[in-house]
This record gives sequence, C-alpha cells and structure tokens, in this order.
Amino acid sequence: MAAKKVNTIKLKFESARNLAPAPESKSVAKIEERYELFINGKFEKPSSKKYFDTINPANEEKLSSVADANATDVNKAVVAARNAYEKVWKKTSPKERAKYIYRIARMIQERARELAVIETLDGGKPIRESRDFDVPTAANHFFYYAGWADKLEYAFPNRSPQPLGVAGQIIPWNFPLLMAAWKIAPALATGNTIVLKPAETTSLTALKLAEIIQEADLPPGVVNIITGAGSTGAAIVNHPDINKIAFTGSTDVGKIIQKAIAGSNKKATLELGGKAANIIFDDAPLDQAVEGVINGIFFNQGHVCCAGSRLFVQESVYKVVLQKLKDRIESLIVGDPLDKNTDIGAINSKQQLEVINKYLKIGQQEGAEMFQSSCAIPKKGFYCRPTIFTNVAQSNRIAQEEIFGPVLAIQTFRTEDEVIEKANNTPFGLSAGVWTDKGSKIFNMTSKIRAGVIWANTYNKFDPTSPFGGYKESGYGREGGLHGLGAYLKL
Ligand code: NAI
Ligand code: MG
Repeated sequence: MAAKKVNTIKLKFESARNLAPAPESKSVAKIEERYELFINGKFEKPSSKKYFDTINPANEEKLSSVADANATDVNKAVVAARNAYEKVWKKTSPKERAKYIYRIARMIQERARELAVIETLDGGKPIRESRDFDVPTAANHFFYYAGWADKLEYAFPNRSPQPLGVAGQIIPWNFPLLMAAWKIAPALATGNTIVLKPAETTSLTALKLAEIIQEADLPPGVVNIITGAGSTGAAIVNHPDINKIAFTGSTDVGKIIQKAIAGSNKKATLELGGKAANIIFDDAPLDQAVEGVINGIFFNQGHVCCAGSRLFVQESVYKVVLQKLKDRIESLIVGDPLDKNTDIGAINSKQQLEVINKYLKIGQQEGAEMFQSSCAIPKKGFYCRPTIFTNVAQSNRIAQEEIFGPVLAIQTFRTEDEVIEKANNTPFGLSAGVWTDKGSKIFNMTSKIRAGVIWANTYNKFDPTSPFGGYKESGYGREGGLHGLGAYLKL
C-alpha cells in the first residue's frame, strides 16, 4: 500500500516536470536600448554620462542599459521635487490628486501584461508571480490610496494632517514595481513629492512606471525616478532638502541610513530584513500547512523579506510533515521564469546566488543535514534548487541570518512556550505563521510572538488596506493601510 502510494506520487512528479513548455510571449515587452533619468517630467541624460547594464538573470543576457545618477543628478531631481511641491502639488486639491493616482492605477492595469513580462525578464521571478501578484497588487495600492487622498481629515480627525515635503524613496530588487507602488501611492495621496530610486538589478519596471506617470500628465517634478546603485541611494539619503526617507532593503544599509539621518529633521520608515517562523502544531491540517510553508519560502525564490525561512514542527507530526515537504519539493518546477508552469524562477543576481551558496556551505559545516530537490536546473543563468535543512540548532547561522533564497531551516518543538521562545530568538521581527486547528492557540501565539505580521493558517497574504512592518532589526514604521498614510504626514 505504502509503496504504491510512493509510486503514484513519483509518477505525478514526473508528469509535472514533463509538462510541455508554456512560455509567455516576450513580444509585449517594449524595452529601449537605453534608459535616461526621469526628472521634472522628462527623460534626461545623466550628468555622470555613465550607464550600467541590466541583465536577465534567467539567461545572463543584457536587456538594456540604464543611467547611473550621481550626486549632481540627485540634486536636480530633489530641486525638481521641491519646486513641484511648493508651486504645484501642495496647492493641488486633494480631489485632483486622487484623480491622478487613480489614473496611474488604471494605466498599470491597462499595461499589466507588459509590466509583468518586463518584471520577470529583469528580475527573474516566475511570470505567474508577476502576472498574478506583483502587477495587480501594485495597481491596487494606487487605487486604494487614490481613495484616501480627499479623506485625510477623516482618517486623522482633529489633527489637521499636512504633507512632509519631498520624500526620498529607495527600494529593493525583490518586488520592483510593487515596492515602487507601496512608496509612491501613499506619498502622492498625502501631498508629498518624490525622488525614487529602484535597485540596480531591476530598474526597468520603475522606468516603465515613469512613462506611465508622464502619460498620466502628473505635473512635472511631482515624481522623479532616478537609477543607480548604492552611491546614488546614499546621495538621496544625505541630500539636505529631503524631508523623509522611505527605505526597503537590507538591515545593513538600514543601519547606515539611520546613522546618516540621525540628528537631522528627516523622518524615516525602514523596512528591513526578516527571519520568519512558520509554526505547525500537531492539530493543524497538515497538507494545507505544508502547502503554506512551500509557498512561504519557495515563492519568489525566497527573495521575500517576510519569507517563512524557519519552520518549527511539533515533534509528534515531525516525520510525516518532513516527508510531505520533501515530496512536495520534488514536484516543484525550477527554470525559465517566463514559463507559466515554473514555480521557482531565477535568483535575482550572481551576487545573490553567491550569498545563498555561501549559506548552503555554512549550514552543512554547522552540522545541519541538507536536502535538495533532484530537479535539473538550466546551465545558463542563476538558479538554486529548493533546499531544506534539518538537524538545525537554534544558534546556527542558517537559523539566525537572512539568506534571501529558497532555503528552509527546520526545527522541532514540544510545547507552545518552547516554540514562542525559539521563534522570538532572532534579531528580526517582521512576520510569522501559525498553523493549528485551535483559535486559542492562534491568539496565544499572535500575542506572544514579536512580529509585525502574523498569519494564521495562511501565509504571504497581502492587501493594500492592512499595515505592514517590523520590530527589532526588521525596521520601524508601517506601510499600507491607514498607518501608511501617517508615515507621510505631519500630524
Ligand atoms: P541593499 O540594501 O544593498 O539594497 C537595497 C536598495 O538600497 C538598493 O536600491 C540599493 O541600491 C540601495 N542602497 C545600497 N546601499 C545604499 C546606501 N549606502 N545608501 C542608500 N541606499 C543604498 O540590498 P542588497 O545588497 O541588494 O541585498 C543584500 C541583502 O539584503 C540580501 O541578501 C537580503 O538578505 C537583504 N535584502 C532584503 C530586502 C528586504 O526586502 N528586506 C530586499 C533586498 C535585500
Ligand atoms: Mg536585471
């Protein structure tokens, strides 16, 4: 009986891997050979005269070259944003502001296919993710905040909310368009102007968004989008005429930013790393839990700050959960991100793949046991097989540090108190997941685990109406929902 079951599962895996390719067409993606900086409503050459390549991490082919903004360019963008703030945007009625934001949302929807394909080409995430999650959620953020623009007095009664001025926004490479939406939509709704910098490996959808913003006829200078790497980001952070910094990225850079703005009047929200725990109790619906865990860590190659990178399983169900996990991992399809069947696409960059591979070595050296899917991976491009570690000690680096890849560290527990202590024992506190049949356990866990978001019997669910953010080294401030407005207002 058992043997027969294993056979049928194997057969299922074989057939999943042998699915005929179903690639999304690239023809909808119009990518220029070269992109300039979007400053004051126009695309301008960088005064640095420098450009850098952006590649497709799935095959290492060059997609385009992108302008590298220096401090002079950053200053131009900030001056444009300041002028637009003082002369136009501050005086634009909230109702008018809402119309622009709404228009941007509609245009994202209209160009959804193109945006999804470009997101996948430039960043390596499966087309299923960019098509079904990133792009629609980005549009939803604009729709949601368009609705708030003329209701700020109701959102913050008796507190006469005022914009901050110019916001400098720096975003990472894991959700390029969505992070741009998270940052731009609430800032516009609250009457601020913007200088935004995407990450250097994934600039293209932000530049497409610049085209949309231009077409939407947003007054020049209200949103400026400039490209470049860390030094461009630092020039934004250190510019004296910026009133607020919104950053999402690594904890290391978050700390640099915190130091850089200490003592200045700049407000900040920092959305940093995570090491989320998924917790499976023995009374949980195990198949659903396993699916949630898979989705939580392998979704988007583990390039997710709230990825469920640690798993705690109650001892009595450990064996069965582990087997289910291994079986499911074997069935995941790793490969061409443009293929609609792909579950795990390309790692965003060679550099990030090296980070992940370094941790795979560290985990084994620390004495943990590694299990990887046996699937083949493409020869060109940056790929990592879905990986789990068992025999993990609480002190192991793979259980403490953010890996940002498809790597899951599994531990066991006996009691609620034990798992709470273990789950809280990292420098981070961004998110967690609890799987149980019992409401009382959910309440106990959610009140004692120090994490900004805790999902119960689900994972990685996002909605523009709910706030998101962390504790401890995961950063501070909240984005999304009503809370996300507060971060851009003087109250
Ligand atoms: P990073 O923090 O260097 O990059 C994020 C953004 O910050 C990029 O736009 C980058 O150009 C900019 N930046 C870099 N140095 C800066 C500086 N000194 N001042 C201002 N802006 C600066 O992240 P990186 O190097 O791409 O990834 C390293 C690790 O960070 C990953 O392995 C992962 O663990 C973590 N990470 C976490 C993210 C999250 O969503 N929490 C997102 C991206 C990375
Ligand atoms: Mg790229």
